[in-house]
Amino acid sequence: MTVILRAENLSKRFGGLKAVDAVELELNDGEILGVIGPNGAGKTTLFSMIAGSIPPTTGRVLLEGNVISGGSPRRAVRAGVVRTHQIVRPFQNLTVLENVMVGAIYGKARPLGARERALEVLDFCSLRDRAPQLPGGLTLAGRKRLELARALATEPRVLLLDEVIAGVNPAEALHMADLIRSVREKRGLSIILIEHVMPAVMRLSDRVIVLDAGKKIAEGKPQQVVKDSRVIAAYLGESASAAASAQPGPAGSPTPTSGAAPASLPTPPANPTPASIPKKGPGGHQ
Ligand SMILES: Nc1ncnc2c1ncn2[C@@H]1O[C@H](COP(=O)(O)OP(=O)(O)OP(=O)(O)O)[C@@H](O)[C@H]1O
Ligand SMILES: [Mg+2]
Repeated sequence: MTVILRAENLSKRFGGLKAVDAVELELNDGEILGVIGPNGAGKTTLFSMIAGSIPPTTGRVLLEGNVISGGSPRRAVRAGVVRTHQIVRPFQNLTVLENVMVGAIYGKARPLGARERALEVLDFCSLRDRAPQLPGGLTLAGRKRLELARALATEPRVLLLDEVIAGVNPAEALHMADLIRSVREKRGLSIILIEHVMPAVMRLSDRVIVLDAGKKIAEGKPQQVVKDSRVIAAYLGESASAAASAQPGPAGSPTPTSGAAPASLPTPPANPTPASIPKKGPGGHQ
């Protein structure tokens, strides 16, 4: 397997807070890597450093051996790495097509073919019929697909998806999951996926890493990771985890009552406002 993107000793400090703490990460060519962790774990900050939006305090990110961190989003996009934003904010006064054309032009020396590229990507994201409309008329799921289309229009090799499924209804979530799969299969992209919707993470990811308080606390196949006691503790809080593991499960094994089943880790709300962000999942500790 070829490693396409590598993060080495990546940290971000905001004043006294270590939002990301010495994270190492590898993304293989053609892989979908899930990133999970409780609210405030540092997932979005990790993306911001990989995508060049903020400089790392320590460490670096390499795409096929070339450093892409510490520059700018434009440099990362030119290199082939693009991210979507957790809180989608399309240009409200531009049409859906124009929004995607911004992506098609961004980071390119010449805007040649931007319109055609944008239309092709809109087609791929099932938004072609919305091309002349303003984004204000789209549902949240539509706006998330628009965010994906804008990112795809930059013609990346690595796509960073920040909660593109959370918050949409179940049918739209399935549609988005299919779309993500076909981004890999039909467009050949490698993907890192931050997502709170655990069934989607479980189904889509080849591998998952778990962040808690800025640190990578687990890594592996999705089915293994969600059974990891450190992961359950991170979501539920240490005491809840200890109490749960003290209760024998159906087969007599120590099985936490609420955290053991894959896909049953608590699902926080999408795009929580600062006031609503719990540091841990329900029942957790601050
Ligand atoms: N620009 C900033 N300045 C100061 N602190 C920040 C900044 N951005 C993020 N933080 C803090 O860094 C920590 C990690 O935030 P981040 O947004 O990366 O978490 P997250 O894992 O994406 O959370 P969520 O699941 O809620 O989206 C949080 O404590 C957050 O308040
Ligand atoms: Mg986030």
